[in-house]
This record gives sequence, structure tokens and C-alpha cells, in this order.
Amino acid sequence: MKVILLGPQGAGKGTQAQRLADRVGATHISTGDIVRSEIESGSELGKKVQDYNDRGELVPDEVIVEMAKPYLDDADSWLLDGFPRNEAQAKALDGALDEIGEKLDAVVALEAPDDDLVERLSGRRQSQATGKIYHVEYDPPPDDGDDPGPFVQRDDDAEDAIRRRLEIYHEQTEPLKDFYAERGLLITVDAEQEIPKVTEDILGAVGREEDV
Ligand code: AP5
Repeated sequence: MKVILLGPQGAGKGTQAQRLADRVGATHISTGDIVRSEIESGSELGKKVQDYNDRGELVPDEVIVEMAKPYLDDADSWLLDGFPRNEAQAKALDGALDEIGEKLDAVVALEAPDDDLVERLSGRRQSQATGKIYHVEYDPPPDDGDDPGPFVQRDDDAEDAIRRRLEIYHEQTEPLKDFYAERGLLITVDAEQEIPKVTEDILGAVGREEDV
């Protein structure tokens, strides 16, 4: 299974990829997580990408493609979250798949209005221990010790960076919907619904009803 989750910031790509990965036995590959883990490691690459991340700007294509490639080669089955984000990256992904003789199964576009997204991102918390994504109101962190936390806010979840990320999404990433629709790969899912219902709809859309 090779599926791209496409959608604006806060639509729920990370949330859904985490819920789906176990159920369908696929690896969740998030280029945002890859960027943040380089930054945390303090590596030269991390220093190079930190400023882009904190301002909500895209990391240059050649850098992110090189960062993502080893993960694509390593897993047989994946859910790709946050990549590709423009046509150049989509073409680089095609090239990487051609090299290993694989092809995409589907591109799932999660759709939700911008006003909801700002509220979702402002309330997002992520567990430092498990990486699991929560929301203070819609999906609160457990208080029974199931996830020890602490539950922290991302540096780029400040309002200015959120607005900039959404602007870039509409300019550069949203046109990929047409790019993949022309190849018959695009499936759209209403991401305004509750989290479990969105998961159910994605599984149905990719022909995995048995995993609902
Ligand atoms: P990345 O980590 O990918 O961030 P992003 O694109 O801004 O996406 P988000 O993680 O904000 O959104 P999401 O859709 O995953 O939302 P989530 O599930 O968390 O990238 C970070 C940075 O890395 C970029 O800005 C860039 O600098 C760099 N980068 C990464 N990839 C790159 C690339 N390909 N090229 C260049 N640079 C790149 O959900 C959000 C919140 O909403 C959560 O609190 C969740 O609980 C809640 N929620 C989710 N679904 C629902 C629902 N149905 N109802 C109510 N609440 C919900």
C-alpha cells in the first residue's frame, strides 16, 4: 500500500496516518517529523532547516527530497504525510518510485475550511514521549497514565507561522489535487467530521473496509 495523505495544515494528516498505520500495517512517513527530529538532534542539517520550519516556510526541494528518499526505499507499505508539497516534489517522488519499480495506489485529500484549521492547530499538543497528536478540546491527552507526556506545543503553531503555512498550501500544494486527479489517483474525504469517522471514510475510500 502506497498512499499519500494530502491536505492543508491541521486537516488531520498526522492524526489519521497514526491511526491508520497500525490498522493497515503500513509505515507512517512524515517529512515534518523528519525535519523536527533533525532539528532536535542539533545536526548541521537540522541547523540548516530550522529557520524554514519556525517561519512556516518550505524547506528547499532538493534538501527535503534527499531527507525523504531513504524512508521511501526502506518501507514496502507507507502512508506519506507532508510530502510532496509542490509539483517539483511530486515529480521527484515519481522518479524515486520508478527507480524501485513501485507505483502509487491513491492520493487522499483531506478537506476542511481554513477557519477550523487555525483553531485546530492552536489547540494541538504532541506527546514528547510517544509523538502522539492530541487536541486540548477535540482529542484531549489521556490523564490515566496511558501516555506519560509531557504534552507540548510545536514551535511553528504560532498564529503567524500557521497563516503563512496555509498561504503556501493554497499556492503550491493544493494544485497537486489536479495533478493527481488527472491520473485517476485522487480521492477526497471530508475532514470536518469527527476523527474516527474520517478514519472510517479513508479506509473505505482506499478499499480497506475490512480494517474499519
Ligand atoms: P508538517 O509537520 O508536515 O506540518 P504541516 O504541514 O504544517 O502539517 P500539520 O502537522 O500542521 O497538519 P496535520 O494535517 O498533520 O494536522 P494534525 O493531524 O496534527 O511540516 C512542518 C514543517 O516542516 C513545514 O512547515 C516545512 O518547514 C517542513 N516540511 C515538511 N515537509 C516538507 C516538504 N515536503 N517540503 C518542504 N518542507 C517541508 O491535526 C492538527 C490538530 O487538529 C490536532 O490537534 C488534532 O488533534 C486535531 N484534529 C485532527 N483531525 C481532527 C478532526 N477531524 N476534528 C477535530 N480536530 C482534529
